[in-house]
Amino acid sequence: MNLQALIEDIRQETLPFYDQGKVADYIPALASVRPRQFGFAIQTLDGRQYACGDADVAFSIQSISKAFMLALTLQADGEELWRHVGKEPSGNPFNSLVQLEYEHGIPRNPFINAGALVVTDRAIGHFGDAHSHLLAWLRAESGNAALSADETIAASEREHGDRNAALAHFMKSYGNLIQPVETVLNQYFHNCSIAMSCRELARAGLFLANHGASPQTGRHYLTRSQAKQVNAVMLTCGTYDAAGEFAYRVGLPVKSGVGGGLLAVIPGKMSIAVWSPQLDARGNSVLGLEALDRFTTATGLSIF
Ligand code: DON
Repeated sequence: MNLQALIEDIRQETLPFYDQGKVADYIPALASVRPRQFGFAIQTLDGRQYACGDADVAFSIQSISKAFMLALTLQADGEELWRHVGKEPSGNPFNSLVQLEYEHGIPRNPFINAGALVVTDRAIGHFGDAHSHLLAWLRAESGNAALSADETIAASEREHGDRNAALAHFMKSYGNLIQPVETVLNQYFHNCSIAMSCRELARAGLFLANHGASPQTGRHYLTRSQAKQVNAVMLTCGTYDAAGEFAYRVGLPVKSGVGGGLLAVIPGKMSIAVWSPQLDARGNSVLGLEALDRFTTATGLSIF
């Protein structure tokens, strides 16, 4: 199948979906992005890349950083990590507080904000500056040594981060956060504010399609079993309370971010990054979901 022609067709087919969603505005600096943009990039295990649309435009990866941070922390922490954060879907919005009290400060999974804060906390314990560790890793795997966090977005997140601060303090009261709350929040906001293009994101995510080893740098990050764990949690929790719809329509492990990006993994074959900033009510990219749905339907490539 001609993948380049396919993704260009998909781009044309999804353009009518512009303006069905809305750019995230709960962080003011995110609201200034031009809404009608769409990028798609595929990176295959045999070194090919296919891309179209705005695949070279850098955007805020937001919660997609949670998948990379999970992988790096799992590599360092092993099974111990799962004593501090669960692996079940939450069925709640990504920034919800309600479950945490019932569940004694142990977040449902690493992809809701509370879970990502715990993962960041543990990463700081291992790496010191977890954000710099993540950035160095993303630079190596994406091939762009200039990748960095957007300081304007990081500052805006901090300024409007009362809910994340509440989650962090609450977990600290249960002893499930070790580092100072301010340190954890600062690193978490900087991780969310990293700017990457679809081409870079697809390259950086490729190790997840290759049982934890990067075909680009030859480095082994995760064991086969850990790579399976990250993919499984992406499938069941990676798009929050829309994970059922994504599994049903796309059938792949996917991690989304409120910047409008989606990282999808086809184990043994390729990684895919799609970006379009207008979001549906559950915080996922409208055109991104449409595009991935069409891609797996046309190619028959899914994990099912
Ligand atoms: O914590 C926040 O509010 C954001 N910086 C990250 C949120 C995010 O991308 C969640 N979702 N898709």
